[in-house]
Amino acid sequence: MASPSAPLKILVVGSGAREHALVKAARRSPLVREVVATPGNAGIAADAPCFSVKADDVPGLVALAQKEKADFVIVGPEVPLSLGLVDALAVAKIPAFGPDRACAQLEASKVYTKKFLLRNKIPTAYGETFTATAAALAYLAKKSLPIVIKASGLAAGKGVTVAATLAEAEAAVRDSLDNKIFGASGDEILIEDFLPGEEASMMLIVCREKYLILPPSQDHKRIGDGDTGANTGGMGAYAPAVIVDAPLLARIEKEIIRPTLAAFTREGLHYRGVLYIGLMLTPAGPSVVEFNVRFGDPECQVLLPLLETDPIKILWDCANGVLDPAACRIKSHFAATVVLASYNYPASPRLGDAITLPPNANLPAGVDILHAGTKKNADGAVVTSGGRVLSVVATAPTLRAALAAAYQTCDQIKFAGAHFRRDIGARQLAREKS
Ligand code: AMP
Ligand code: GLY
Repeated sequence: MASPSAPLKILVVGSGAREHALVKAARRSPLVREVVATPGNAGIAADAPCFSVKADDVPGLVALAQKEKADFVIVGPEVPLSLGLVDALAVAKIPAFGPDRACAQLEASKVYTKKFLLRNKIPTAYGETFTATAAALAYLAKKSLPIVIKASGLAAGKGVTVAATLAEAEAAVRDSLDNKIFGASGDEILIEDFLPGEEASMMLIVCREKYLILPPSQDHKRIGDGDTGANTGGMGAYAPAVIVDAPLLARIEKEIIRPTLAAFTREGLHYRGVLYIGLMLTPAGPSVVEFNVRFGDPECQVLLPLLETDPIKILWDCANGVLDPAACRIKSHFAATVVLASYNYPASPRLGDAITLPPNANLPAGVDILHAGTKKNADGAVVTSGGRVLSVVATAPTLRAALAAAYQTCDQIKFAGAHFRRDIGARQLAREKS
């Protein structure tokens, strides 16, 4: 693989635990001389100077990258990608990791993606698109339950209703099209058939037609143990998810990955970046639930530690069109992350609670405490500033050991109202036993 001609100065865009993981990976990389981030959080600021430019301010981000003389920009979240940050950086001749605006449509428009999948006969739930309430309600009346209603645009993970009753489905249609609860993101909706099964996340580093398959992972979307309660941004993850065994992975590659990348080429999408394939493992086979155009959060936190090859080298080579997937090595370890959330998350998280962390010296081997919704207040104390506050990551030879180290650390972290799931990875542990 090619290497940069001189050590890199890297700008990481974003403010979650995913971006903290990327900042730490950059700091460990022999290819990197300096790391800066924007807007960051209290934990990122302890590892890299942070700026105040927000992740949705494309001209501000380009100006910052120029002012800081960044050699490489790594974009964490989807919003700047969908606003064309990578295209704007390309005009400024600054290499960046992440797809261009045209490819980012694959996350920014669920209607676009559904049409893409159906047109290319890639396995996915059948769905139809609506902008008028009456037509949507008439369609619902003909369909069986459960049924899934999705706002087409970006809605911070809140735009999907899996409706068990007709009344719930009708309310979701009206909320989106008439009551505009998702704003313009819900002007168009998708009504799709319900897929039964277990979910798994596949992330690939895609460099046009070349791709590196990262270990399969599983997120835990609901707030409560046993997958109960409200949906969240993700309360924990682990990898590799052994439910995606070698034969299933081969099937996913043949039926989904290769046809998808071939369709990108046919349709003029020049994809470079992470392609996140959300899958439902149905009795009839794997089916695409969604594409995201960036690393998942919290999945990123468990994938980076499993890369034997320097992650920054992989991202740099991808961005520069020289990725050599066969030269990339994955560790045969397990990684797990547990997300600590603030009081009353996800309904309306309370902010400003002081956080006490164990000293780094007390952390078990292989553990990192990554920050998400944290900031320093005027007195210099680190306080909660978002719903998902911290992501404790552990890597070990077994999933059981990784989870034990992560939970041992979670138990040492204190802030008022802190809560986290106790059953991250439990399904896989149960599978290992049986
Ligand atoms: P999405 O944002 O499209 O990934 O949807 C969010 C969540 O809703 C997914 O992670 C699934 O748990 C669920 N979901 C979405 N589409 C379907 C479907 N067709 N059938 C069953 N569950 C779904
Ligand atoms: N963990 C799911 C996501 O990042 O969208």
